[in-house]
Amino acid sequence: MSKSYRIAVVNGDGIGEEIVPVSLEVLKDVADIYGFKLEFESFPWGAGYYLKHGQFMPDDGLDTLADFDAIYFGAVGLKEVDDTLPAMLYTFKVRTHFQQYVNYRPAKLLPGIQSPLRYKGEEDIDFVVIRENNEGEFVQNGKIIDPDSPYGLATDTSVFTRRGIERIAHYAFKLAMKRRKSVTNVTKSNTLIHSLAYWDQVIEEVSQQYPEVRYQKMYVDNASANFILHPEYFDVILTTNMIGDILSDLGGAVMGSLGLGPSGNINPEKDFPSMFEPIHGSAPDIAGKGIANPIGQIWSGALMLEHLGESQAAAAIVAAISETTKAGLLTPDLGGTASTSEIAASIRQQLKQAKAIS
Ligand code: NAI
Ligand code: MG
Repeated sequence: MSKSYRIAVVNGDGIGEEIVPVSLEVLKDVADIYGFKLEFESFPWGAGYYLKHGQFMPDDGLDTLADFDAIYFGAVGLKEVDDTLPAMLYTFKVRTHFQQYVNYRPAKLLPGIQSPLRYKGEEDIDFVVIRENNEGEFVQNGKIIDPDSPYGLATDTSVFTRRGIERIAHYAFKLAMKRRKSVTNVTKSNTLIHSLAYWDQVIEEVSQQYPEVRYQKMYVDNASANFILHPEYFDVILTTNMIGDILSDLGGAVMGSLGLGPSGNINPEKDFPSMFEPIHGSAPDIAGKGIANPIGQIWSGALMLEHLGESQAAAAIVAAISETTKAGLLTPDLGGTASTSEIAASIRQQLKQAKAIS
């Protein structure tokens, strides 16, 4: 009997409603070709749902998601809705509740795409940002006091725990063992002298257990410059929640567009479902036009299949994406004229052709 996986689908808002549906078609095709089943169930949650119901998901939303093998997500956020809410009421809620403590964000230059770094090619741009996803700067622990008075004051206190640092560090070093055996800890411990000094200390301890991996520490200001000047320095980047958020968009830019970057919010122990989404947001500036680049979303589907154990199907999707960009079929964010659905159709076509040849 063929394997079957239950996938919760949350399109979310803006371009999420365009790129997720076309990506599901790609996933259905690949499942047919590789002989497994994907059962999708969609949930209309997000900022649009909030406008109608006063919440981003129903009270039992997390319980509902808990029964699935994975969550396939677009993005949340609408201009009409207070933008402090989407992360708090949906994205971070899911990531922390299901202990998706790894945010896995590869950046790789695809064939046929000119990186904005004009001297850099495919051999130079191939790294993964491993972003700590459950604690750090984004625990939203703080307050605003007397905002309108001259003494107005606001705080956000970061939280770093030994357990939180150790588990993300082990994930990064194990990943490096499967790649080019290099981990760069991107930090700012020269100024965040408590939280990130402790972060460095615990990572340094973990690094001792992986003598084959080259370990280095780099401050984020210097790392940002090196993303542009020397992306080839990087293999696995291990960093905090906020630094990883920022650097992974820079990674998307180095690849040519934010629309290309995939991500997995992963619970490596598989105690809970993991969630797969592109690195970008709901892109209200281009929503509804049918021109959003679906590659980050489709590639996130490949990361999902990899996580579920369908490695061949995952690799086939990445290969079909590469064939499509290589053929010069590009959306406007990459200087092309192709639509969202044309890109998805080409990727589906490439999958079928590859199957026919093999
Ligand atoms: P954004 O990532 O949505 O857009 C930034 C720029 O990149 C825009 O010019 C957009 O058109 C472009 N872009 C993004 N994805 C694209 C794609 N697939 N194809 C072509 N171009 C693409 O970030 P922004 O504008 O800062 O935020 C918009 C909304 O998204 C906000 O409400 C924000 O809170 C939310 N957001 C949600 C995230 C999530 O759900 N995980 C993550 C980041 C932002
Ligand atoms: Mg982000």
